[in-house]
Amino acid sequence: MTERVLTGITTTGTPHLGNYVGAIRPAIAASREPGVESFFFLADYHALIKCDDPARIARSRLEIAATWLAAGLDTERVTFYRQSDIPETTELNWLLTCVTAKGQMNRAHAYKASVDVNVAAGEDPDAGVTMGLYCYPILMAADILLFNAHRVPVGRDQVQHIEMARDVAQRFNHLYGQGRELFVLPNAEIEESVATLPGLDGRKMSKSYDNTVPLFEGGAKALKEAIARIVTDSKLPGEPKDPDSAHLVTIHDAFANEAQRAAFRADLIAGLGWGEAKQRVVDLIEAHVGPMRERYAQLMAHPEQIEAVLQEGARKARAIATPLLAELRQAVGLRTMVAVQPAQSAKAAHKSEAPLFKQYREADGQFYFKLTAADGSLLLQSAAFAEGREAGNWVKRFKTEGAAALAGAPVMLEAESAQVEAALMALVAHEAELAAAKAAKA
Ligand code: TRP
Repeated sequence: MTERVLTGITTTGTPHLGNYVGAIRPAIAASREPGVESFFFLADYHALIKCDDPARIARSRLEIAATWLAAGLDTERVTFYRQSDIPETTELNWLLTCVTAKGQMNRAHAYKASVDVNVAAGEDPDAGVTMGLYCYPILMAADILLFNAHRVPVGRDQVQHIEMARDVAQRFNHLYGQGRELFVLPNAEIEESVATLPGLDGRKMSKSYDNTVPLFEGGAKALKEAIARIVTDSKLPGEPKDPDSAHLVTIHDAFANEAQRAAFRADLIAGLGWGEAKQRVVDLIEAHVGPMRERYAQLMAHPEQIEAVLQEGARKARAIATPLLAELRQAVGLRTMVAVQPAQSAKAAHKSEAPLFKQYREADGQFYFKLTAADGSLLLQSAAFAEGREAGNWVKRFKTEGAAALAGAPVMLEAESAQVEAALMALVAHEAELAAAKAAKA
């Protein structure tokens, strides 16, 4: 069975070298392993919790997307999307909110940390705390459960959130699953082997410590300048250096192979000067990052290409999210009224009340399909297909993905798009209902 791996990247900043080594590079490497299906997304709804500067949010989304693509993310293999392109996220967020205990949110670290700061400052404990921050873990649970992810690679500070997602999944399964597992229980995954990269001063590289080395920003020049500012001891060229106490070595090693690591250590012990040592680190990183920086610049010059990639990602993501949400709505009792009328069988109800797809062949020998509303009026008409199977595949996609399948579909709308979308939504819900009714009978 393929394992689903999912992680989100909050879009508030510009990626630095530490983000690359600690998160981006290992995630991309892991996505290339056989047997995994990876979901990476820009957590831009989460970004709104931390940042109310629209320009910064917009810029960060673009930069982070470009960075992941430039770093070699294969979007054919991986589903790469924006959280805010998946409306099912906020819908699920609400379903989960309704089964999450308030007391559990009181214990969330991020919220508690804000309260502690307020109390220490003699302020109201909830000063400046939004409901977004308070309910942050529920939105995160929605991200994860919407795709039934098995593994969620995160930093240590996020582990509690994954446990909360497990809890709420369990509770939801128990309340609404009727013995079925509506949600997979996710596991946090902390990459122990991936070292956190030290920053200029030796503490963890982080924007909040103002000790970062830029990844692409400012080009090779900025990289060189940052490396020059890495703190070392004051030993002179010719004096032996201790490689184990120099975080310059840790940064070097993050980009070096075994032989280069050994040579660097030996040379430092033999008295290599810090200036020369830093130049070697610059050359090493530049060889790795330089080509990516070029791809990054190309992408940043063509945001429409990034947009297209993310739109396609959203389509793939919604192909999973839309049917799941239809099933969940069904499970909690948000059902169409039609099927609950006792006199009508589900099938009869389907016939009379739901929009309907028809597949047919014209005199020209080509295959077509169309969608009609419950009242028989035409909503959507397909182009011609040489193969009946092709037409059938599109119908199948519309029935599971709903309106999300409209993007790129060879169809013409014959009614207001809102009307067509509503009909497709009703159809997806109906299909889920029929499937549920069938499952209940079996
Ligand atoms: N909160 C995570 C962070 O700050 C980002 C995130 C949002 C996330 N949703 C997620 C991570 C779902 C994993 C899964 O790092």
